[in-house]
Amino acid sequence: MVNSTIPVIAIDGPGGSGKGTIAYRIAGRLGFHLLDSGAIYRIIGLAARQGDVPLHDEPALATLTESLDIAFKLTDNPENPLSIWLNAQDVTLQIRTNQAGVDASIVAPLASVREVVMKLQRSFRQAPGLVADGRDMGTVVFTDAAVKVYLTATAEERAKRRYKQLKDKDISVSLQELLKSIQIRDELDMKRDVAPLRAAPDAVIIDSTALSTSEVFQQVLTIVEGKLG
Ligand code: DC
Repeated sequence: MVNSTIPVIAIDGPGGSGKGTIAYRIAGRLGFHLLDSGAIYRIIGLAARQGDVPLHDEPALATLTESLDIAFKLTDNPENPLSIWLNAQDVTLQIRTNQAGVDASIVAPLASVREVVMKLQRSFRQAPGLVADGRDMGTVVFTDAAVKVYLTATAEERAKRRYKQLKDKDISVSLQELLKSIQIRDELDMKRDVAPLRAAPDAVIIDSTALSTSEVFQQVLTIVEGKLG
């Protein structure tokens, strides 16, 4: 039974805007649960590939999604602060590949898959509270969230950040290619019919283009403290 008096902090925004890091830090500060909603779509893509379910077979994907046993566990590894488990297997690294991101973007627009995912997402609303990040946390899944933040940054800045992350891991990519794929993903997320990415009317919009992670964290924390006391 979901308790709607349990506070939710919804952090939405485009891919690469840093919302995952901020959500993790806010959850840690408040001792709240954490929901990485994008990871669920990535898991569905992975499970579909493992089970030979075609990524466009909507009824089969919805049935598959109902059967998944998904768990998130906090780790003390800053590179991967959240470990993600599918049917008792650690799939943290598998779901972060580029292919997993592409697969997630194919299954995410399917309405009946989103219906099943929504129930799962709402089950994360447990005391003392939840920080949920994604694309539609404030607009669809937790419309009564106590705090709604829409975190964004220019596509160029998000591409630069991703480029630096990959370079630090000795993975060589072209900045132009990264920018192109971010722009394609934005377009898919914002223009789809079901739960498109947009700021909720009651969200506070933060443009992090010229801000450090700590500055964004402080801004979000101030908003949260103002609302939750
Ligand atoms: O944030 P991410 O890259 O892990 O998201 C993976 C995919 O899932 C991406 O295509 C957007 C989609 N997504 C969504 O449709 N709704 C959410 N609440 C979160 C992610």
